[in-house]
Amino acid sequence: MQHIDVIMPCGTKNDRLKSITQVALQSLSISEDPNKVKFHPVVVESHPDVLGFDYKQAEKVIKPEGDFGYHRYLNIGVAHTDSPYICLINNDVYFYKGWAKALIQEFEQDPELMSASPVTMKEHNHRAEIGQGGIWYGSEKNVHLKGWCIFVRRELFNKIGPLDEQFRFWGCDLDYCQILDKYRIKHALITDSIIDHRGCSSWRGHPESDNEPYLWRDNLKYWIKWRKQTLEAKNTHDRVEVLNWLIHRYGYKTYLEIGTSCDWCLAQVKAENKTGVDPNPQWHGAENSHVFYYKTSDQFFELNQRQYDLIFIDGLHEKDQVYRDLTNAQKILSPGGAIVVHDTLPPNEDYQASTRCGETWKGVVSYRYDNPELHVATLPEEFGLTIFKQNLETREEQPFMPPRPDELDWDFFIRNKASLLNCVSWTKFTLKERLKHY
Ligand SMILES: C[S@@+](CC[C@H](N)C(=O)[O-])C[C@H]1O[C@@H](n2cnc3c(N)ncnc32)[C@H](O)[C@@H]1O
Repeated sequence: MQHIDVIMPCGTKNDRLKSITQVALQSLSISEDPNKVKFHPVVVESHPDVLGFDYKQAEKVIKPEGDFGYHRYLNIGVAHTDSPYICLINNDVYFYKGWAKALIQEFEQDPELMSASPVTMKEHNHRAEIGQGGIWYGSEKNVHLKGWCIFVRRELFNKIGPLDEQFRFWGCDLDYCQILDKYRIKHALITDSIIDHRGCSSWRGHPESDNEPYLWRDNLKYWIKWRKQTLEAKNTHDRVEVLNWLIHRYGYKTYLEIGTSCDWCLAQVKAENKTGVDPNPQWHGAENSHVFYYKTSDQFFELNQRQYDLIFIDGLHEKDQVYRDLTNAQKILSPGGAIVVHDTLPPNEDYQASTRCGETWKGVVSYRYDNPELHVATLPEEFGLTIFKQNLETREEQPFMPPRPDELDWDFFIRNKASLLNCVSWTKFTLKERLKHY
């Protein structure tokens, strides 16, 4: 007899949602031969009024004190059970016959397999899409890993510890993918195990699913936790790393970001005092900056009285606006400060679209043309990060005189971008700037 704990976090708000869980439990109870597989379903329920007898097929109904958290609820379920196999699953699912047997078969054949996900009926019927069916090893979200169903050996938790409870709603599956990689856990998609997922239907209407701040905050938590590993795995660098490197190297304290979007960069930059400016951010959390202006950069510069050590220009990507942002930023830059402009190296002509890099490079090159004394270096990371700073070691030996702004076109850019923007590699830049005595 195989014993399987089935842990099902629920956010029941009404009868419809309660019936979704009941359907899941009912289909579970008839999905395997009870003489061969014994399920131990545990519902972890956030609604205080849902009584145990509403879930007749559940072995336990736990109603935790405190806030809902998907990982928190799963950890509670794991702590209340002791079977060798654990299925961590959403409540908006339907179990098909033999789903568990197909999984256990693979676990028995492969003692190194620690974690697995099933497929949905649709995927199963389109097996060509996933090859000839069978087993697919890997850790990619929505390919190998289905966040709504993770089937594991209990020993897994000896290795990885409890699931990270800072992820309360969004980002749980992404976090688990990273955990698989970090601990080199063998995970697979088992295409003969079929469970249908109704697709977030149980959570629609849940305060955390409707509330964008939860999404943005969980998204940020994910990046704060995993950004470094992700960059290392790809052997690359990003704007946060560049900005934090400058802050650390030059002891900058005050930081201004023009165009903040969803605080992805603003939140991760480590400066003592941060100011954000965006007339229409996707989201802003008060905890991510000391001051925030819901204004255009022009409006902000009009009223601003402060100086800043480091200014990141990433607002409207139109050439005249970039030129104006650079002019205004230079006026309020502390002595020895730096300005960084994003999206200065579009990889092809299409990237000059306003939703991508725009014509930022034209604004930057025109500004250099009018201010030839300024020192510039451009890193290739993330479609170009151009740094303006006095006494850059990586400045050109011979100052380059760019062509007149009206001579600038894409062909010219492609042929001359290395000198137009003084492109340097991250290694060269950091090495030279680090060695400099100044
Ligand atoms: C590319 S996103 C910024 C991304 C962000 N800096 C980051 O690193 O994650 C551009 C942002 O600029 C903002 N924006 C558009 N026009 C602006 C303006 N005139 N002044 C300041 N920000 C502007 C948009 O609302 C948008 O959120």
